[in-house]
Amino acid sequence: MNITIFGSGYVGLVTGACLAEVGNHVVCVDVDPDKVALLNDGGVPIYEPGLEELLKSNREAGRLTFTTDAVAGVRHGLFQFIAVGTPPDEDGSADLQHVLAVAKTIGEQMDDYRIIVDKSTVPVGTADRVAEQVRTHLAARGVDVEFDVVSNPEFLKEGAAIEDFMRPDRIVVGTDNPRTGELLRALYAPFNRSHDRLMLMDVRSAELTKYAANAILATKISFMNELSNIAEALGADIERVRVGIGSDPRIGYQFIYPGCGYGGSCFPKDVRALIHSARSIGYDAELLSAVEAVNDRQKDVLFKKIDEYFGGQLAGRTVGLWGLSFKPNTDDMREASSRRLMEALWQAGARVQAFDPVAMDEARRLYGERPDLTLTPDALAAADGADALAIVTEWTQFRSPDFGQIRQLLKEPVVFDGRNVFDSRQAITAGLTYFSIGRTA
Ligand code: UGA
Repeated sequence: MNITIFGSGYVGLVTGACLAEVGNHVVCVDVDPDKVALLNDGGVPIYEPGLEELLKSNREAGRLTFTTDAVAGVRHGLFQFIAVGTPPDEDGSADLQHVLAVAKTIGEQMDDYRIIVDKSTVPVGTADRVAEQVRTHLAARGVDVEFDVVSNPEFLKEGAAIEDFMRPDRIVVGTDNPRTGELLRALYAPFNRSHDRLMLMDVRSAELTKYAANAILATKISFMNELSNIAEALGADIERVRVGIGSDPRIGYQFIYPGCGYGGSCFPKDVRALIHSARSIGYDAELLSAVEAVNDRQKDVLFKKIDEYFGGQLAGRTVGLWGLSFKPNTDDMREASSRRLMEALWQAGARVQAFDPVAMDEARRLYGERPDLTLTPDALAAADGADALAIVTEWTQFRSPDFGQIRQLLKEPVVFDGRNVFDSRQAITAGLTYFSIGRTA
């Protein structure tokens, strides 16, 4: 089948590469000529395991092309995927200008039946706005062709996106036209083999499903973070509590890991957008507001512990930092807890020497050269000569270090572990003063 994907960001590229891999002819359209040139040269603008190989083989097989030519894009695909960004507006609502700009282009250029697929995370009602935009521009040209707008949210996790696309746990398709639903079913058939995972529903329910999924996951995390603060104050160990409650299948073990707050491009933005959507219809989403507030506070927890330990005297001190990305296996630093910590440390006059397995370039891009930030070639170098070590991302390679060596390298043998990656007993036995989340030892 012929498919066009507007937006060569994280969602667009993964979707394009995976749909090409199963034999479709995919054209990816992006407004950024530098990005398109990079992709045509075999480069990849983001770090995502497996993506580079998939893009390469499908590009070489002639099933995947990249262009800035939106007109050619509209001509090419029966399916027109919209996978452009929906960044938050100042008030937290999703900014739909890029989505609506694509809809306008489609309306201005289409001459045949098209299925417009909203892949971007968009508030309930967006499909209607997309349809209206297309209709307006078709009418302006005096063209009368049919089209459908489908909501098909993505549930990819950064770092595991290819796997999530290839073996989805659900494929949500929102459409009010059963015939279109069947065309989407055919498109997704290669990813829907062992049992039927495709869920057909009305458009608005599909749009809300995406927000609901992210909101409940964010809620689980904030719940555990709140509980970790209570556990710590009461002298309980949140890690034991986690295992104790996770064994109940109604609760489950996943997404109940306490830490120094959730980040990334999805949870913070989507929770805020849902709160905003609710407000716009006069509903005060109190629980979601609390999820957001608890997360915001949790991002300051490590700084508070460090500041307290040093009696508010952080000026002139150096903190070693392990992890910059918002989670392992990505170089994404959007809303990462590392940023809040670094910025608070700088504000207090401290220096940071940081290491991350893949996000070093991203840190350079965000912060440039500055005297209070040193990016070190490896994890041990980040600890070398530092007054303390802080851990904000649970990369596997940080899990079992040589504790003795860390103790020797640090000026003061104190570790603030924001993701509970160390075995507390081992760390303490090795002579480290060890602070973590929701544990007193
Ligand atoms: C999230 C969802 O998990 C995906 O299902 C969804 O498709 C995606 O957003 C999206 O909307 O595009 P992602 O942002 O890649 O995926 O990251 P997650 O793995 O969900 O992690 C988010 C944050 O929560 C990270 O900062 C992570 O450290 C934190 N987290 C996660 C915890 O603090 N505790 C946990 O138990 C789990």
